[in-house]
Amino acid sequence: MNEKMQEIKKEALQMLEQAKSLQEVEQIRIAYLGKKGKISLILKDLKNLEVEERKNVGKIANALKQEIEEKIESKKEELQEQMLEEEIKQQSFIDLTVPVKKTIGSLHPITIVQKELEEIFASMGFTIEDGNEVETEYNNFEAVNVPKYHPARDMQDTFWLENGQLLKTQTSAAQNKIMLKYGAPLKAIFPGRCFRNEALDASHENTFFQMEGMMIDKEVSISNLIYFMKTLLSEVFKKEVDVRLRPGYFPFVEPGFELDIKCIYCGGTGCKVCKHGGWIELCPCGMIHPNVLKMGKIDPDEYSGFAFGLGLSRLAMMKYGINDLRLLNSGDIRVLKQMNIK
Ligand code: DAH
Repeated sequence: MNEKMQEIKKEALQMLEQAKSLQEVEQIRIAYLGKKGKISLILKDLKNLEVEERKNVGKIANALKQEIEEKIESKKEELQEQMLEEEIKQQSFIDLTVPVKKTIGSLHPITIVQKELEEIFASMGFTIEDGNEVETEYNNFEAVNVPKYHPARDMQDTFWLENGQLLKTQTSAAQNKIMLKYGAPLKAIFPGRCFRNEALDASHENTFFQMEGMMIDKEVSISNLIYFMKTLLSEVFKKEVDVRLRPGYFPFVEPGFELDIKCIYCGGTGCKVCKHGGWIELCPCGMIHPNVLKMGKIDPDEYSGFAFGLGLSRLAMMKYGINDLRLLNSGDIRVLKQMNIK
């Protein structure tokens, strides 16, 4: 009997040692301590033994039962700990091969148009410059021929800082700095965010984007301006675009123009977009005023140039059929989703 129990003990402990899961442990428990388990049967049989032997066997069998029970408990704890460790390991493991959920964002329409324009201008030899958003009054106004008390300032009311600086109202504010930096000849574009103190509606925002451009060289003429604008806009709209110039007044150009494009939606026959006029006003421009060249330390007798101030926000609206300027700054992700821009 004693030998048999020693064997059971050896066997059970060995099995427990090798068990790899809680289920296996449970099976071992049933096999030894369950109703019909090996140890349970020995205990049940005690009643058939002689008193002396019963005492002896009972003592050993109970000790064995207790030992196996304890071993089962400690094995369970060990396995549970292992499982927990495994789980933690898996949680901190980032599987880079798992496919990404399809909530990839999209570029903003203004960014897309800006990048497109930058590429086109770069291919025509223009450099891309950056302007400040906070500017001096001099750069924003005086240096582009809008002295103090000039009536043209009224159209560009803006936000003033306590130190006398302002949020720039136009990308033209960078003209002077760029001329001083590079001198002539010069070909540059400078996109940027502009600010005006406006009463807001579908076509007026206090924050909007422009892209200014300048080309200065010997004998630059209005034909150069028309050529560049036509090429550029045809690229943007991916089709041949007709342009026309109307006189327009801007203190920093002489002569100054409003450049219109033939309506790309109706081809000029008249529709809602062009307000039935057949043409859409798109880009103010002109030949740089001699005063502006002089302030940029460029000799107007030797050099001439054109400048333009393309409304980027406006262009993006036209390109993507957006009818309210305020949507562009709304920060509402649904706007981008709705436009389905990739
Ligand atoms: N800065 C002008 C504005 O915001 C736009 C403009 C007009 C820019 C004519 C130019 C230009 O460079 O030549 O209203």
